[in-house]
Amino acid sequence: MKIQIDNLHFTYPTGLEALRGISLTIEAGEQVAIVGQNGAGKTTLVRHFNGLLQPTVGAVMIGDWDTKKHSVAKLASRVGYVFQNPDEQLFSRDVETEVRFGPHNLGYSKEKTDELVKRALALTELSSQTETNPYDLSPTWRKMVALASVIAMDTPIVIFDEPTTGQDAVNVTRIAHVIAELRREGKTVITITHDIDFCAENFERVIALSNGQILLDGAAADVFAQEETLAQTYVDPPQLTRLGKRLGFKETVRSQDEFLNSLKKSIDASEPR
Ligand SMILES: Nc1ncnc2c1ncn2[C@@H]1O[C@H](COP(=O)(O)OP(=O)(O)OP(=O)(O)O)[C@@H](O)[C@H]1O
Ligand SMILES: [Mg+2]
Repeated sequence: MKIQIDNLHFTYPTGLEALRGISLTIEAGEQVAIVGQNGAGKTTLVRHFNGLLQPTVGAVMIGDWDTKKHSVAKLASRVGYVFQNPDEQLFSRDVETEVRFGPHNLGYSKEKTDELVKRALALTELSSQTETNPYDLSPTWRKMVALASVIAMDTPIVIFDEPTTGQDAVNVTRIAHVIAELRREGKTVITITHDIDFCAENFERVIALSNGQILLDGAAADVFAQEETLAQTYVDPPQLTRLGKRLGFKETVRSQDEFLNSLKKSIDASEPR
């Protein structure tokens, strides 16, 4: 399902203009990372996708729905949103009730709800915790409950706001696995992240925001190549990308495999014949 944003401006009641003319199209099935300094407007932007915020000027279309004309409850069938802080999202006394809430609320049959809940719990490795109170889990696992409760709604668009913040390496890998599975299912995944390595490893398209505007938008390698522009929003390209650049690689590398390929090429080119 396509997302189309046209000249979006948003001003908070305090008078602060957090978004200043954003125009953007995200096609069905795209995997997009949104990066940028604290306060750039990332969360404000994605809260427009499910109607939590309404444009002051401009329009946000989710498929053929204008977010101004549809309620948050209705938009929830198209856009799932995992909050930056799971404690703002979780409210049930046990994991299963929490994860059932979304699909049940969307009016799915008991059979379909059962199936969706089972799948979401399996994907987030929570199948053995159905009766646990989310607040008895560690923050790491509470984050997984928040992910499960959104995935269970089976929306064509899924948004993650800072999924890896405060997570250990094992859980970052789990979250990457969840995102890969959603990609395989053809869903649109939009992720806000400060974790640039996570971004490089999991996303094809990167949008950099700065002061409520789009600074860069393109293929991850092309965006990471613009080191100086990225610095304006306090984003450093991934370590490997910077190292590759210092080693004089022609390509912008993002992953260990790309790095090793470029390294091999440069060694081959420098070997005497
Ligand atoms: N509820 C609010 N009322 C007033 N101003 C707000 C509110 N929420 C955010 N802002 C301001 O709007 C701007 C954009 O904030 P936003 O939370 O969208 O940034 P962000 O890019 O998500 O930052 P972070 O990386 O810290 O999460 C900031 O200047 C912030 O202080
Ligand atoms: Mg934010």
